[in-house]
Formats: sequence, C-alpha cells, structure tokens
Amino acid sequence: SVEGIVRVSATVTSSDIATAAGVLRAGGLVAFPTETVYGLGAGVEDPAAVARVFQVKGRPPSHPLIIHIGGAEELDDWVEEVPPAARLLAERFWPGPVTLVLRRGRRVPLEATGGLETVAVRVPDHPVALALLSAFGGGVAAPSANRFGSVSPTTAAHVRTELGDAVDFVLDGGPCQVGVESTIVDATGDALSVLRPGGVTREDLEAVLGRPLAVPSTSRVRVPGQHPSHYAPRARVVLVEPEKVVAEAELAQELGHRVGVFLPPSLAGTPVKAHAVVTVPGSMAAYARGLYGFLRELDQEGCDLIVASLPVEEGLGLAIANRLRRAAGPRPSR
Ligand code: TXA
Ligand code: MG
Repeated sequence: SVEGIVRVSATVTSSDIATAAGVLRAGGLVAFPTETVYGLGAGVEDPAAVARVFQVKGRPPSHPLIIHIGGAEELDDWVEEVPPAARLLAERFWPGPVTLVLRRGRRVPLEATGGLETVAVRVPDHPVALALLSAFGGGVAAPSANRFGSVSPTTAAHVRTELGDAVDFVLDGGPCQVGVESTIVDATGDALSVLRPGGVTREDLEAVLGRPLAVPSTSRVRVPGQHPSHYAPRARVVLVEPEKVVAEAELAQELGHRVGVFLPPSLAGTPVKAHAVVTVPGSMAAYARGLYGFLRELDQEGCDLIVASLPVEEGLGLAIANRLRRAAGPRPSR
C-alpha cells in the first residue's frame, strides 16, 4: 500500500476521507454511506451549504434535516438540554440507527431545522461516516441522498443515479447494511414517542426504557417531511393480503399493466404471470436491507404497477410496513 494511505473500509481510504472533509469545509456537498441509507451531507453550521442540500434534493425548506455527529459525548454541543431518557438511548444505541429529537442548541442554524426550535441528531454506525465526521470535526446535516419524495439510496450507484453532478463528492462505502432509515424518537418531553419507525425496533427501545412508546400512525402527517407519498418508486404500489398477491398481479397484468410483484416468502417458487417478480426474503433484516433496491429494480424493469403485501408489523417489520404504506400512499405532483 502507498505510504500514509490507510483503508477506512474495503472501498474508502483515508485520502478519500480527507478530500471529502475538505469539500465540506469549502461549503460543498458530500454523499456518504451510513448503516441505514446514503446521506447528502453539508456542514450544519454553513447555512449556504445547507440551503444547497434543499435545492439539490428539491426539498421544501420547511422540512428539517438530521444532524450527524461523531459520538454520544458530543450531543450536548448541539442541543439545549438532554433529558435522562434521551441520554440513556444515546448511550445504549449510538452509534446506531436511532435519531433523537431534542431542543435545538444555539449552534444549529434554523435553516437546518426548517425553522423548528427542536433538532434531530444521530451518530451513524458506519466506519466511513464516522471517519468523515471525525476528519471534518463538526456536525453534518444530511437527509437521505435522493430527490424529494423518491426512494432512498442504499448504494453509491443509486446516489449517482439520483443526484448526478449536483453532489460534489461521493464516498462509496458499499451497500448499506440496515437499508431503512433511522428510528426517530421525539425525546423533548417526558412521554417519548416514535415519529418514524426505522432501524432500531420499538421493542428494543422499550426494553431499554422499561416502558412503552407511543405507536406511530402512518395516516397522519406529524411533522414536515413525513408526507404519505414519501419513499415512492415511479410505479404505483398496491398493497393486498399476502394470499391475494398472485391473483391481483395476474389480473392487472392481463388488463395491460406491466406488473412487478413482491412475492411473499411463503409463496417462493410460485410461478406468476407478471412482468417482473422479486421474492421477498423471509428474514426481516434481509427484507429491510433489500427493500429500496427491490423498488428501484422494478422501476428499472419498466413496471408501472407493483403488487405487494405488508409484513407482520413487529420488529423491523414495522419500518418496512411504514415505507410500503407510504409508497402506496396518495401522491402530490412532484
Ligand atoms: O437514517 C437516516 O435517518 C438517514 C441517514 C442519512 O442518516 N437520514 C434521513 O434523513 O432519513 P431525511 O432527511 O430523509 O429524514 C429526516 C426526517 C424527516 O422526515 C423529518 O421529518 C425528521 O427527520 N426530522 C428532522 N428534524 C426534526 C425535528 N426537529 N422534529 C421532528 N422531526 C424531524
Ligand atoms: Mg429521506
């Protein structure tokens, strides 16, 4: 190996990290891998760079971003106050796919929070993300690195497809291991609630807290940036009972649709007269890891309709069902 160059992961070197940190310092945008999905990062204390994130994504400026930091011990630098329950979650789950919403510290510009007096913070569990945060030395505001309303990227190739030259530098850390976004917990008050189910399960959070959390409802828009139509592929998504997937798909195909099928694991091997078929993995972890890639794949195959069913809504199944419901939800023009 070249002297002075160290591998941060199989595909990223310390010299890539130095370049990326320099881009952030210069006010540029860096796409980077996390354990959940790829993020589109800007230095959070640079309002012009943050503004470019919104512009590149086509995201309304009222939609708040998540601030990525290098470790739980840095949390107090970014928030006004850390209640005991939030401290506990940070210590137990970071680095990891849980995001805490707390009262905004003065260092966080309102541009990054969409004008809110609260801020969402997390420590990503990925060697490339952590190396970037450490080299940059500040907080990195990063939404998922996709255009507003579309499916989050879980590979660097997805990022390039979504954003092309609009991003200044892409760190390719390989495919994301979790595959769905972080669990967002509102920890501003005494009664914690889940604003978005994600990579850390509700059951795991409750086990650490020793008490139940409020259950999310997909039907209501709770905060800006949580519209029903989020996480949608181009193809329309229709959700049916697992035992009706094949019949529904074949009927739609017969009616002239180019149908993509999410075949439930219990039906693996069943022949389906449709345009394209993805057999859903039996393990929820594998399903979460593959979910966004499957949706992209069926779009790429030219499907105009995707027929799927919901997994059991426990463990990671809760986050998967949430994303599928949103993908199937009403769509404003975009
Ligand atoms: O896993 C993840 O969280 C990924 C990776 C890149 O870290 N990031 C991500 O960011 O999913 P984004 O921008 O796609 O989603 C951020 C979500 C938004 O839906 C927004 O509603 C919520 O975080 N959020 C941010 N700040 C908030 C706040 N102050 N209060 C409530 N929700 C907030
Ligand atoms: Mg997103």
